[in-house]
Amino acid sequence: MNAAESPAQLPDSRIANIQQHLLAWFKDHGRDLPWRRTRNPYHILVSEIMLQQTQVERVKPKYAAFLEQFPSLEALAAASPGAVIRAWSGLGYNRRALNLQRTAQAVLNEHDGKFPATPEALCELPGIGPYTAGAIACFAFERDVAFMDTNIRRVLQRVFAGPDTAPVPDRELLELGAVALPPGDGWTWNQAIMELGALICTAARPRCQLCPLRSDCRAYAEWRAADEAVFTYSPAPKAPRKAKVAERAVPFTTTPRYFRGRVVEALRQLEPGVWLAVAELGPQIKGDWTPDDQPWLATLLHGLAADHLIELDEARLHARLP
Ligand code: ADE
Repeated sequence: MNAAESPAQLPDSRIANIQQHLLAWFKDHGRDLPWRRTRNPYHILVSEIMLQQTQVERVKPKYAAFLEQFPSLEALAAASPGAVIRAWSGLGYNRRALNLQRTAQAVLNEHDGKFPATPEALCELPGIGPYTAGAIACFAFERDVAFMDTNIRRVLQRVFAGPDTAPVPDRELLELGAVALPPGDGWTWNQAIMELGALICTAARPRCQLCPLRSDCRAYAEWRAADEAVFTYSPAPKAPRKAKVAERAVPFTTTPRYFRGRVVEALRQLEPGVWLAVAELGPQIKGDWTPDDQPWLATLLHGLAADHLIELDEARLHARLP
């Protein structure tokens, strides 16, 4: 069982090594991504919301197209929700689109169109959680703040605590992250640590041989020691594969989220303002549709309407984007 290192007792030389190794690696290997070329907080906000749960390569063209269509906070705030949902096509999790628009409206109406610069003030905005608040404060305003996402969490866990099998609480990892962050270089540091998590220190198959933090990493030391023991004394153990089996137990194409996405996608095909008969929608979104599915569909549509992702007419016989 691993305990994380104590933030107060990290030797300065260890911190200096980690900083130097990671920053030098990022200089050579960091990707040239469009949101790394800007400090415009609106652009950073759009990129960060898109990057939640969506791959970088998928986000790149969507980010450019979205900013072309909604070039400013004002343009996004004034758009119809349906237009924003249409622009979100291909990104999934459509609620993110509406939350993004709500954030834009709040910045415009409550902050005179000027983004707050601190994580605390950003967190007060609708649709902004601690991660996004930290990311905007750091990537747009170059504040030296530590924050957490899945990549950052994995890197800090492995470097300072050990293999992910004994996870350390975020509170402790955040403290370690804050101590490790080089003052004045928070922007590069946070980009670098995310990049390492995305490219090298990946969840399933970390590429430790290419990692700049190999000599600084507790997990690597443990894996090495275990490897050597296995090599010397016994055959390699078979890795358990439980998690994947559990994930597969419910196929994604049977989940409410899948069908919600199908409904929004069907309505995206229509011209703005045009209604689609609910009777036509069922067979479009469900291959094995039968009239018995009508109550299920009614519930699904009700949920989408409650989330403002679609509109239903009064009789609930027609649907469209808002
Ligand atoms: N995911 C979230 N923010 C990112 C960033 N700035 N660069 C790459 N991937 C990210």
